[in-house]
Amino acid sequence: MCGICGYIGKNNGIDEVVQGLNILEYRGYDSCGIAYLENKKLKTIKTVGGVNNLSNLSKSMSANIVIGHTRWATHGGVNERNAHPHISSSKKLAMVHNGIIENYKELKEQLDVNFCSETDSEVFLNLIDSEEGSLVEKVIKASKKVQGTFAVIVLAENGEVVLGKRESPLYLSNMNGEIFIASDVLALKGEYFYSLNDDEFVSIKDFKILFYNKNGEIIYKKQEKIEKNEVLPEIFYKTHMESEIYETKNVLLKTLKEYKCEDIFSNIKLPKNFRSISLIACGTAYHASLMGAEYFKEIGYDARAYLASEFRYGRELLNKNTLYIFVSQSGETADTIASAKMVKSHKLYTLALTNTPNSLLNRICKNVLPTFAGREIAVASTKAYTCQIWSLYLFSLYLAGKKLPSEKKFANFPFTTFDETYIKEIASYKKVFFIGRDLDYITAMEASLKLKEISYINCFAIASGELKHGTLALIDEDAVVIAICTQEKIKTKLISNLEEIKARGGKVIVVSQFDDFKDFSCVKLSKFDELFMPIVSVIPMQFLALRICEFFGYNPDKPRNLAKSVTVE
Ligand code: G6P
Repeated sequence: MCGICGYIGKNNGIDEVVQGLNILEYRGYDSCGIAYLENKKLKTIKTVGGVNNLSNLSKSMSANIVIGHTRWATHGGVNERNAHPHISSSKKLAMVHNGIIENYKELKEQLDVNFCSETDSEVFLNLIDSEEGSLVEKVIKASKKVQGTFAVIVLAENGEVVLGKRESPLYLSNMNGEIFIASDVLALKGEYFYSLNDDEFVSIKDFKILFYNKNGEIIYKKQEKIEKNEVLPEIFYKTHMESEIYETKNVLLKTLKEYKCEDIFSNIKLPKNFRSISLIACGTAYHASLMGAEYFKEIGYDARAYLASEFRYGRELLNKNTLYIFVSQSGETADTIASAKMVKSHKLYTLALTNTPNSLLNRICKNVLPTFAGREIAVASTKAYTCQIWSLYLFSLYLAGKKLPSEKKFANFPFTTFDETYIKEIASYKKVFFIGRDLDYITAMEASLKLKEISYINCFAIASGELKHGTLALIDEDAVVIAICTQEKIKTKLISNLEEIKARGGKVIVVSQFDDFKDFSCVKLSKFDELFMPIVSVIPMQFLALRICEFFGYNPDKPRNLAKSVTVE
């Protein structure tokens, strides 16, 4: 959720770290800060708000060893005291931390320290400082006492830097004597990088990098190549979100081409004669999983999607004849990771469907099916969602022994925005409902999530058939109902639902390719294969959320209280 960054080298580390934090800002943006050495003393600059503020505050300053952090608050409010980096009470260490220390309250009681912040991170730092030994020994000893997750960079007043991680990602690269550290490969420089595994540690002293395991033994680590797509994408429209929606057609086409020219599907190791598929994910990826489950059912599999945050505690009977697919744009969502680890511990068949090469989820799962959506920066997922649906659909064709569709079909990919005339009107309603049946119900769920994420409107999705079982009581002239209808078989039933809403004073807007809704306001979709319509119909819903967000004057790329990667549980 937060982003961490570090620099050790001959150039101005403050500029380098601020640049890195700028790239990582999509992960957390309520406060940020840096720590550096000045005359052998640790100094910090912290600020509430975005990295822009930090950049202004640190202008014309210079240092060669710098660590930085952009925060998404978990423990303690959003203020400078709680912003990272923290300084230990002895003033000898500074630290940035991603993750959560679950037992911080007990540890706090054991430490004789006047704490400056309300954070769990400051407790971890002072615990490190209270240990005996070299800096790396101190970090290793303290890490054994903490429960929870962490990725940390510790900077000592003698210029030594130590890194360590458990669950939260942490990477470093060494480019001609300049060392870059970051919680996302995107913010590294150079061609190669090191990825830390859980409970591995690094000490950097006088530019010498040493890796350690949890027993404090020196280990050897191989470098990996930074993939070409690990660069910050350009924006061609006002925001990342808008640019990303407009990329949909290209990323679907790219995914199709990649699946055709490489043996991606045939390399997947599947359980013998399996007929059952479980999909596990969070947020938007969960909605893609619901859709995927329908595609797998369509070809005769027993398929079901689970919320990762529930699945991990659930009582599902795990079995060796099931394929477990973990769907995640980032490949680092904490609950999805925990679920994958749980399934893997039973030695079952796991498949990671991710959009991020080298992600933690890819490393955990036996098989990987990449989506080729390219980097997605806006918090609200759009092109990654459509790409996930598309990948699951193509995988279902492969499992059914069918040919993948031709690229030519995509020449006519229908792209509909949401009719601008309705935006102001919908924004004026106190209650917004999305309804649909069958596949359209899943689209309704995703549309509702998108709208609430970035416009803060209280809205929710209901299966049309459930309206009469409670929600109809909420329908009056303060309610607008957006109905999605892309499946022929549910048309007539939906019309009855819409009449019921109209009769109670609710406003109805239908999103459909059919001509049967003349009595209602309508956003007309172009016709395409029915099974493919969930991709066609979700695009106007993404636009609806985007335009309402802009109408209210909010930034769609950085919605309040949310973050792109949810690495805490
Ligand atoms: C966060 C993001 C969502 C995303 C969800 C799952 O909530 O804001 O856009 O769908 O995490 O993320 P993942 O990376 O696992 O797909």
